[in-house]
Amino acid sequence: MSDDNVIYQTEALIAEDIEAYLDQHQHKTMLRFITCGSVDDGKSTLIGRLLYDSKMIFEDQLTALENDSKKVGTQGQEIDFALLVDGLAAEREQGITIDVAYRFFNTEKRKFIVADCPGHEQYTRNMVTGASTADLAVILIDARKGVLVQTRRHSYLCHLIGIKNIVLAVNKMDLVDYDPVIFDAIVKDYTEFARSIGIEAFTAMPISGFKGDNITTKSDNTPWYSGPTLIEHLETVEVLSSADVDKPFRMPVQWVNRPNLDFRGFSGLIATGSVKPGDAIRVLPSGKTSTVTRVVTLDQDLDQAVAGQSVTVCFADEVDCSRGDVIALADNPPQAADQFEATFVWLNDEAMIPGRAYWLKLATQTVSATVQAPKYVVNVNTMEQLAAKTLELNAIGVAELATDKPIVFEPYAQSRTLGGFVLVDKITNATVAAGMLNFSLRRAQNVHWQALDISREAHAASKNQKPAVLWFTGLSGSGKSTIANLVEKKLHALGKHTFLLDGDNVRHGLNKDLGFTEADRIENIRRVGEVARLMTDAGLIVLTAFISPFRAEREMVRGLLTEGEFHEVFIDTPLEEAERRDVKGLYKKARAGQLKNFTGIDSPYEAPEAPEIRVDTTRETPEDAAERIVALLIG
Ligand code: ADX
Repeated sequence: MSDDNVIYQTEALIAEDIEAYLDQHQHKTMLRFITCGSVDDGKSTLIGRLLYDSKMIFEDQLTALENDSKKVGTQGQEIDFALLVDGLAAEREQGITIDVAYRFFNTEKRKFIVADCPGHEQYTRNMVTGASTADLAVILIDARKGVLVQTRRHSYLCHLIGIKNIVLAVNKMDLVDYDPVIFDAIVKDYTEFARSIGIEAFTAMPISGFKGDNITTKSDNTPWYSGPTLIEHLETVEVLSSADVDKPFRMPVQWVNRPNLDFRGFSGLIATGSVKPGDAIRVLPSGKTSTVTRVVTLDQDLDQAVAGQSVTVCFADEVDCSRGDVIALADNPPQAADQFEATFVWLNDEAMIPGRAYWLKLATQTVSATVQAPKYVVNVNTMEQLAAKTLELNAIGVAELATDKPIVFEPYAQSRTLGGFVLVDKITNATVAAGMLNFSLRRAQNVHWQALDISREAHAASKNQKPAVLWFTGLSGSGKSTIANLVEKKLHALGKHTFLLDGDNVRHGLNKDLGFTEADRIENIRRVGEVARLMTDAGLIVLTAFISPFRAEREMVRGLLTEGEFHEVFIDTPLEEAERRDVKGLYKKARAGQLKNFTGIDSPYEAPEAPEIRVDTTRETPEDAAERIVALLIG
């Protein structure tokens, strides 16, 4: 069917039966795809050709993505092809350092969202962002140049992100006289590479974005090619979500829908499988089971709902279920675990800090998580595995990950929804990494929490006290140990059972393997936090005196403890004053360059923003401060 014909028929349908047209339009499936390649490969020309030939032009940036259903479907204006391509190329160049440009267009059969990402290595994170929601990738190759390093990099990234449909678009065929020998050689080359990284299948096609060969219409210039045109392929390729329907049912719960006392349902987007009234389900991680009574969309009951649909599900029983839980088939539920091997793409300018706690968001679950030093990072150009101590911007690496409580998950290869996650910095709220869970570690499955008969409450009750942690923080020489020591003496005199953990002392034993790099200080505080927690379980009032320079780790320790148990005590002595006192002579050494990474000199101290107690040692004596702290704790 020629383009003119398509337009004529569409117009006829609109004129005759606007309802039928809208209905047809509404029920079009959506394909999200990504184009990989550089401007040199003819990417802007190809995207321009797709927009131009589909006669509908919609463009917008990332923010419009959420509104995509509203955007698609308006008749765009016709503009000159060359002008359009120039515009896209210019926009691409200017916007190269910003995110991903999403463009919308549609044909008779489908709606499309194409993610146009810059191709250079320094924009790996942009490409991964674009690929993360794509069902298909078009890998562009310049027929004159063949398979290049960047072709390999792009293919590897798309495969890593789990894109199953790969189109190898051998472009600029007009510049090699539509020579099938050249096309075949490129396909052979790519096949070898694709196999080596685990790409099982791809579709190769000879095209010219500039001339329009095999884009919307079969080209007379390539009689030796019998496959589909690019648009035909994009229109008919099976979208990944239809494969998801055959998998077992999983729905992460977004919210509890309770408009009135008669209705209680759980709303979410079905990740995989299908659900219908009568199905036996299980809520995870609690493991509670029930039967589905209703499956509801906005205002109607459904006989069945499938992957990709947003629904509210009602149960026969009053089962506890809230945001973050996952509803699954009763006899085939996903697992829960708290230790994993994962593959990361580091998206932040600041490198990963092993041992630091980040927020991990997976489906609707948010937990605190720490990442260990990577097992290896991957050279994205050669696929080599290299040793590394951290993950820098754009790095791709494999590392172990631990969460503070079990999360419901599936390996990424089985479920992008339950296996894909992001890490968020707890202080800046920036998304610092995208990740894919490979598998849970067996040691996590086999180490169970031992339920103990004598509870922490029993321990505390026998001591007749409420467990607490007084966490002293401040510069070296600020007076932490002095004041903590006085506080402990006073508590002891009151008959309280206490224990003081002091930085200098703990560093002689438990933490003697640690120095003063950022990573070592984080590990120092993590261990001390865990020890303090065990001591509160034993019913003790724990005092700790560590510089503990980073807000994130102090907050991490707060999170380890029961609400109200952690008291941050900021010993606020200005640097000049601590340096003037210089009780251990360390500031002098640091100034003389004999002591590296010294807090306050060449290593940062992040002062508490809202400590429970603040002591200004230039105004208050240690004795008065200790009195005040005891009064605050004992009341
Ligand atoms: S923390 O930063 O990891 O919390 P911690 O409180 O355990 O530090 O240890 C601090 C003590 O180690 C200081 O009081 C000081 O005596 C000693 N020290 C030795 N080197 C350094 C350094 N580079 N920076 C800070 N303190 C140091």
